[in-house]
Amino acid sequence: MNRIRLGVNVDHVATIREARKTTEPDPVAAAMLAEQGGADQITFHLREDRRHIQNRDARLIMEMAQTLVNLEMAATPEMQEIALALHPDSVTLVPERREEVTTEGGLDLRRMGERASQTVKALKEGGISVAAFLTPDLSQIKEAARLGFDAVEIHTGEYANATRDEVERTIMAVHDAAKAARKFGMHVHAGHGLTYHNVHPIVGVADIEELNIGHSIISRAVFVGIERAVSEMVQLIKR
Ligand code: PXP
Repeated sequence: MNRIRLGVNVDHVATIREARKTTEPDPVAAAMLAEQGGADQITFHLREDRRHIQNRDARLIMEMAQTLVNLEMAATPEMQEIALALHPDSVTLVPERREEVTTEGGLDLRRMGERASQTVKALKEGGISVAAFLTPDLSQIKEAARLGFDAVEIHTGEYANATRDEVERTIMAVHDAAKAARKFGMHVHAGHGLTYHNVHPIVGVADIEELNIGHSIISRAVFVGIERAVSEMVQLIKR
């Protein structure tokens, strides 16, 4: 069976650093250790308000990473310019609201209209693979295919927050969304709210090729170190 790539989201290390506006802990060092632990990809979100990852982090991760790099960003002209200059392997377009604690919900591609298609076109012309972060909503998935996205990242937040009697329904929604995205010829990623305890059923969704996981891995790393926290997740997502 095909292997799932693990993208480790290092924003959470930068969040701790920015709590003191100091130089430690360094998300760039975290990225290097995540690679040592077996991460297939380093993921980070360069937010418009720079509340955690800074331009310097993005630049250094791009210089030093040996694995794939996935930049999460809003579809704005400023971010588009930065992405084209950094040239990560992939960009995942995400919605961004200043007041949110973390990315809430997926993109509304129909509302974004022109902005989404312009960004996809520019990034693809720049040789960057582009994903849309979407809730498991079939109409959004269809729209992503129409707009020329290479991939979708299915938002697993509803599944992660589901009560016991909602788990089955939310997993089926991820499953159906993954299947639809694959049918439209797009690659399928997933992430948000995944932990050592809830990741297993998501690994069972055959069409998913990549998981991006941050908070749970970095939380565990506080106790066991990043390399071990990552390698434990690598073991858990083996098919
Ligand atoms: N994927 C996307 C697009 C995200 O915005 C986030 C949150 O930073 C993640 C994955 C990782 O989520 P978590 O930190 O809950 O594992």
